[in-house]
Amino acid sequence: MTTLIQTAIQMMDKARSPYSNYRVGAAVETIENKIIGGCNVENASYPLSNCAERTALFTATAEGYSQFKGLAVATVNGGFPCGACRQVIWEICGNIPIYICDTNGLIEETTSSALLPNPFDESQLI
Ligand code: THU
Repeated sequence: MTTLIQTAIQMMDKARSPYSNYRVGAAVETIENKIIGGCNVENASYPLSNCAERTALFTATAEGYSQFKGLAVATVNGGFPCGACRQVIWEICGNIPIYICDTNGLIEETTSSALLPNPFDESQLI
């Protein structure tokens, strides 16, 4: 968990956030114990920006990983994942621990299920 959190904090330095100036770093840990980081990547066409959590999960997916056992997100003020990221975390990871961090380390441990109660997912599709 320490390395996962440290990676999320380090990933804040990679953020491309010229519009919000809000740096977000994230890291996911696979069941193989591989840690993959992500950062927010903003665009002048604002909605095209990508959050750090989704960058980490999409990168991990592209690298061939599909099972995850933890995700850490780091910001200057211990921000929580946005709604879109909660949905993507649930879809890709299921119920895993989520570590909410600031630049000093862990602030709060929660779960993807607690962050997204009554999720919409494949079980609703008929
Ligand atoms: N952001 C994230 O990277 N993750 C979140 O869960 C919340 C928001 C980013 C998006 C944007 O680049 C900046 O934070 C301000 O909204």
